Amino acid sequence: MQEKSIPAQEVLKELKTKLEKDLSFNSGKIIGSMCTNPHPIAKKAFCLYIDKNLGDPGLFPATAEMEREVIKALGALLSNPNAVGHIVTGGTEANILALWAARNLSRQEEGKKEVILPVSAHYSFEKAADLLGLKLVKVGLNKNFQINLEEVRKVISSKTLAIVGVAGTTDLGVVDPIPELSEIAEKNDIYLHVDAAFGGFVLPFLKELGYNVPEFDFKLSGVSSITIDPHKMGLAPIPAGGILFRSNELRNAISMRVSYLAGGEMEQATLTGTRSGASLIAVWAVMRCLGWEGYRKVVSHCMFLTEKLVNAIGEVNGVEVVVPPIMNVIGLKSEVFDIKKIAKELRLRGWAVSLFPSHIRIVIMPHVKEEHVESFIKDLKDIVRKMSG
Ligand SMILES: Cc1ncc(COP(=O)(O)O)c(C=O)c1O
Repeated sequence: MQEKSIPAQEVLKELKTKLEKDLSFNSGKIIGSMCTNPHPIAKKAFCLYIDKNLGDPGLFPATAEMEREVIKALGALLSNPNAVGHIVTGGTEANILALWAARNLSRQEEGKKEVILPVSAHYSFEKAADLLGLKLVKVGLNKNFQINLEEVRKVISSKTLAIVGVAGTTDLGVVDPIPELSEIAEKNDIYLHVDAAFGGFVLPFLKELGYNVPEFDFKLSGVSSITIDPHKMGLAPIPAGGILFRSNELRNAISMRVSYLAGGEMEQATLTGTRSGASLIAVWAVMRCLGWEGYRKVVSHCMFLTEKLVNAIGEVNGVEVVVPPIMNVIGLKSEVFDIKKIAKELRLRGWAVSLFPSHIRIVIMPHVKEEHVESFIKDLKDIVRKMSG
C-alpha cells in the first residue's frame, strides 16, 4: 500500500483499467462456466445491504430471519419445507459441511471413515476428506455416466460413513440414480448426501416443464442432506451456496456455541464466522422476484438453447455429444479430432470453454443468448473444417 491517500474517482479509474482483461458474462463468450450474471434485483439488494453480517445474528436478527425463510423456500423446492441449513460460500463449503455432519454423527462408531462417491463427483470432496480425515472410495460409472450401483453395493462395509450422489455432475450434468442410492443408504443405515449444487435450481423446474426428471431430493427418505447453490442457476451473486439438512438433529452435529457476540450466546453451524448477509439478502430478493414462474422461464430458455446447440452439433462432422444432456450442460467429444486442439482453437477465438480429460464442457447459463449459440456453432464448424483439410 502506498503512503498517500488517492481520491476515490482516481481509484475507480484505476480499477476499470486493471480489470479490463477479465471476461464478462455479457459478452456471451463465457460458455463453460456454472456461474452467471446475477439478476438485477440480486445485484441491487447485495449493494444496498452490504454491511449485514449473518455471523452475528444478535445484531442482525432480521437478516437471520430471512435466512430461515430462504432455507424454508429451498426446502420446499426440494420437497421438505422443514429442512434446516444455511446459505454459505458455495458448493465446496456446503459439501464440506455435509461430510462434517456425517462424520460427527458417527463419531461413536470407531473406524467409520469411508465415503463412497462416483468418480464424477466434484473435487470439493477431496478437500472435505483431507480436512476431516476421511477416505474417499471412488466408484466407476455406468454407460450413462452415472454411479455404478453394483460397485457401490460391493464396496459398502462397516467402515462406510457416507455415500454421495450427484444431481447434476460438474462435467456432464448427469443425475446419479438417487432413489437406488437412497434405498441402499437406508438399508445399511448410512448417511446419504446429494450434491445438487448445479441441479438443485434446474431439476425441480424441468419437472414442472414436463421433462422426465428422476427423483433426487428429500422426497426420498434416505437423503440426509443436499447442496444447492444459488450462485449457479439461482442467479444470485457470488458467494451463495446452500446446504440443507433433513432435520435439525443432523445440523446440530456441527453446531457450536459462541458466547461473546453482542446479541448474547448463539450457535453456529458454518465454516466461516463472519459471513455475508448481503449474499443471503440477494438470494431472498431474487427468489422473491422470480418465483417458480420466473425460474421455470429461465430453465426453459436455457434448455431451448441447449437443444438448439445439440441439434447443430449433429451437423458437425467428427464432433458429437458425450451423452444426451439432461440439463443445460453439454459434453462435446470427437473420435476424429484431438478435442484439446478444438478447445484451444475455440479459446483463441475468445470462447471460454471448460476442458475435461476427454471432452469439452459447454454450460448454457442464463447469460448465453441465441446469437451467442449461433456464433459458437459457426466458429466450431469453421475450426473443424480447417482441421479436416
Ligand atoms: C456438482 C458441484 N458441486 C460442487 C461444486 C463446488 O461449488 P463452488 O465452486 O461454489 O464451491 C461445483 C462447482 O462447479 C459443482 O459442479
